[in-house]
Amino acid sequence: MIPLIGYGDRLSVRPGETIEFKVSSQNSAPFEASLVRIVCADPNPAGPGIQEVPVAADFTGSYPSRAQAVASGSYGRVEAGGPLGRLDDLTLVATIWPTTPEAGEQGVLARFDPESGTGFALALGADGSATAILGQVSGAPLRLSVGKRLAPRTWTRIWASFDRAQGRLVVGQTPVRPDPFVDRSGSAERAVGAAAATDGDCPLLIGALGGRPVTGHFNGKIEAPAVFGRALEAGEAAAAGAGEAVAGLVSRWDFAQGISGTKIVDTGPAGAHGTLVNMPARAMTGASWDGRETCWRHAPEHYAAIHFHDDDLTDCGWDTDFAFTVPEGLASGVYGARLVCGAHQDTIPFVVCPPKGSRAADLCVVIPTFTYVIYGNHARTDYGPDWHARAKAWNGYPWNPADHPEYGLSTYNFHSDGSGICHASRLRPLITLRPGYHCITEARGSGLRHFQADTHLLAWLEAKGYAFDLLTDEELHREGVAALEGYRTVMTTSHPEYHTAQTLDALERYRDGGGRFLYMGGNGFYWRVALHEEAPGVIEIRRGEGGIRAWAAEPGEYFNAFDGAYGGLWRRSGRAPQALAGVGFSSQGLFEGSYYRRAAGASDPRVSWIFDGVEDEVLGDFGLSGGGAAGYELDRVDRRLGSPEHTVILASSEGHSENFVLVPEEQLTHVTTWTGDPPQDLIRADMAFFEAPNNGAVFATGSITFCGSLLHDGGDNNISRIIANVLDRFLDPDARFDVPG
Ligand SMILES: [Fe+2]
Repeated sequence: MIPLIGYGDRLSVRPGETIEFKVSSQNSAPFEASLVRIVCADPNPAGPGIQEVPVAADFTGSYPSRAQAVASGSYGRVEAGGPLGRLDDLTLVATIWPTTPEAGEQGVLARFDPESGTGFALALGADGSATAILGQVSGAPLRLSVGKRLAPRTWTRIWASFDRAQGRLVVGQTPVRPDPFVDRSGSAERAVGAAAATDGDCPLLIGALGGRPVTGHFNGKIEAPAVFGRALEAGEAAAAGAGEAVAGLVSRWDFAQGISGTKIVDTGPAGAHGTLVNMPARAMTGASWDGRETCWRHAPEHYAAIHFHDDDLTDCGWDTDFAFTVPEGLASGVYGARLVCGAHQDTIPFVVCPPKGSRAADLCVVIPTFTYVIYGNHARTDYGPDWHARAKAWNGYPWNPADHPEYGLSTYNFHSDGSGICHASRLRPLITLRPGYHCITEARGSGLRHFQADTHLLAWLEAKGYAFDLLTDEELHREGVAALEGYRTVMTTSHPEYHTAQTLDALERYRDGGGRFLYMGGNGFYWRVALHEEAPGVIEIRRGEGGIRAWAAEPGEYFNAFDGAYGGLWRRSGRAPQALAGVGFSSQGLFEGSYYRRAAGASDPRVSWIFDGVEDEVLGDFGLSGGGAAGYELDRVDRRLGSPEHTVILASSEGHSENFVLVPEEQLTHVTTWTGDPPQDLIRADMAFFEAPNNGAVFATGSITFCGSLLHDGGDNNISRIIANVLDRFLDPDARFDVPG
């Protein structure tokens, strides 16, 4: 565990609202908390350096240290009692698709207390086969296994029954589709005394064994777990698992119901509904899925499975150490709750927005918190000792998520069972969201992405004297275009990649209502995400079908559970980024920046003012991100994908290394591309402009490394000048942007 770390219960807050901070300190001495405003989060000594300004706040002071534990792993929880609490004879049944049958004992359906050893459980045993666990009045619980390890990622019905009068314990397993080469079905039986203690005084868990904290997490999918109040014969148990009516049913949880929620519905007479903890994945294909439907809303009975993981984590649930009610008058900006304890320190960033319905500036910068959270705790494959060497040399943030999976990894990583992580949450420490954290150890610049890279833009705005308010994706999602009303100009930061329909709608309506919009990054407006209705702060991403993907969603699992929408690229839902911002993702390479060359269109009087004071043909061949303004992830104009006909290409990048490739959706075969052009022609960033309705306008940079060039040479450079020209015109109430023709 990291010795001093915490999180806030939200990432953005308006004056009058309260943010609660939850801290885990492994130290004995108290920790000090104070407020800072974060101007720049770049630790690179060759750049502006970390800039934080102390701000008075009522929470400033000393707080007792206490360690707060992280209990990861998802499961379903059903409170004990009712008919479930008084069973002398019983059978537990489930259909499972284990992903790590080799990984040791995993609870499937359990009312079991590992501490006292009492209760009854159906589990995967240490040998990977169906296992019954029976508590004893005295002594260790009995375990009875079939003895044939289940095949991973195949559906199997398993059951365990206990007949008290006959003193008989039985366990069995049978594959839903038998393997023609290996017989994996079987059962085991054992005579046991009547001294069994089946009534663990604990909740019934699905996908874990029990205990405090809960242990014995199951990896894989579970469908239709059920409890019967008598000992079923093997044939009956298999039939019950297949959903046939079998006498004696007490509870049967139907995961096809309420797929978008966190509740699990008991369709049995007990009506013992339950709750999911740590958000396992729903809308997962079940044992009966046959490909006839790929949308769970059309055939929910084919999606009656939940995928549990031993490392799911959506809410650490820590206690609050201190809270901050933002006073009226605190300027909008990026702030941090700064914690210090001896040699340890931590800063928890959050965004202060202006009061709802008011604004303090004509310019609004939208902080892409959805993207920050989706990337939160990204353990990178290029991480290694050189990362630590650089963090140390630059006195940067010293912790890396690759060393600390206990806080939950990102949706760019895999679960311990090899499945892609499709949920992200901010209700946990986000190691990557810290001032001074560097992402990539690169040769020519700071190697920053996301929050830290975005402070290059914010520090530049401040240095140039542009007043600005901040909003985040959450305000756009909740409040829509109303959140942006009145701003003369709205700008993004370097990588606004993840969007809901609501955030895209807000930006599009703002633009079409006469707004002036600067898209300052690359690979923006790319993936479609969903927020959970009942769990604020939890975001879902399905990496379906195509795109630059860290993992691939399984067949039949492309639709979001949270909102039922078709997940994956917005392009696949008819909203390519070009339709909003004029440019969209085309090429990706290593974290290297190149330059733009001014295009013929730049001399058009409609746009030539953008280059006032810029004589150079070559633009941005410098910068703190990869050494150049056009790099890493490149967007280009494509009219077929929605760039308006009258879009002007101001400049295009060139000189990219051979490691830059087309994104998969642009490359159709080994020799053909989406546009029909040679691949090399599509590996470019387009700096673009177009007029929008009602005197609006859009400027796009087309590159994720662009903002890293703004501060070069003390902010006196051609990239800085171009953005200042655009901002000055966009902020001018008298400026005219008439759509030509
Ligand atoms: Fe990205």
